[in-house]
Amino acid sequence: MRQNTEVGTGIRIRPGTEEHLKELTDIYNHYVIHTPITFDVEPVHVEDRARWLADHPPTGRHRLLVAEEAGQVLGYATSSALRPKQAYETSVETSIYLAPEHTGRGLGGLLYQALFEALAEEDVHRAYAVITQPNEASMRLHQRFGFRPAGVHHEVGRKFGTYWDVAWLERPLR
Ligand SMILES: CC(C)(COP(=O)(O)OP(=O)(O)OC[C@H]1O[C@@H](n2cnc3c(N)ncnc32)[C@H](O)[C@@H]1OP(=O)(O)O)[C@@H](O)C(=O)NCCC(=O)NCCS
Repeated sequence: MRQNTEVGTGIRIRPGTEEHLKELTDIYNHYVIHTPITFDVEPVHVEDRARWLADHPPTGRHRLLVAEEAGQVLGYATSSALRPKQAYETSVETSIYLAPEHTGRGLGGLLYQALFEALAEEDVHRAYAVITQPNEASMRLHQRFGFRPAGVHHEVGRKFGTYWDVAWLERPLR
């Protein structure tokens, strides 16, 4: 297990609330605008994220956890519905986005540890990560948290005029 020695003690992880929405939206939009990591191609608006926030309450299968330091949002992790049909409800898709200036210091591990501790209390059987290739840091983080390859969708999305492969990873929870 990797030691998160770079992570300071002033970091607080808690459920996301409306007060975080602007910063969470800014972090996400960085990746929308500059990378194929997410397949959204247009920036999202804070107002449109209210629904997303409501879909991730402080209890239940679908969570939003935020990492903060000195009142600043450093990043967030979510568990969300994998597919809408009911039999999928015991599976979640997990996702994680750090502010670009806070990657590479072990924060991802801190957020995922808190997320999976929270999910251990819930009726969740499988978690899936859906990772545009290449993304070495994300692949390593997910593998460290017990995710294993479950297949690749080849050239499944087009962004910036290029087709991108997406790797699916799967992790058992209970
Ligand atoms: C992916 C992400 C959440 C990882 O969190 P992080 O705190 O930056 O990751 P860590 O510092 O714990 O590093 C994770 C692993 O990736 C490695 N790594 C970190 N940055 C890397 C890079 N730029 N290239 C290759 N490997 C890298 C680390 O050495 C570590 O490897 P290990 O677990 O084998 O020791 C974070 O980098 C991020 O938000 N990236 C942009 C958004 C994104 O890609 N989200 C995932 C969408 S699927």
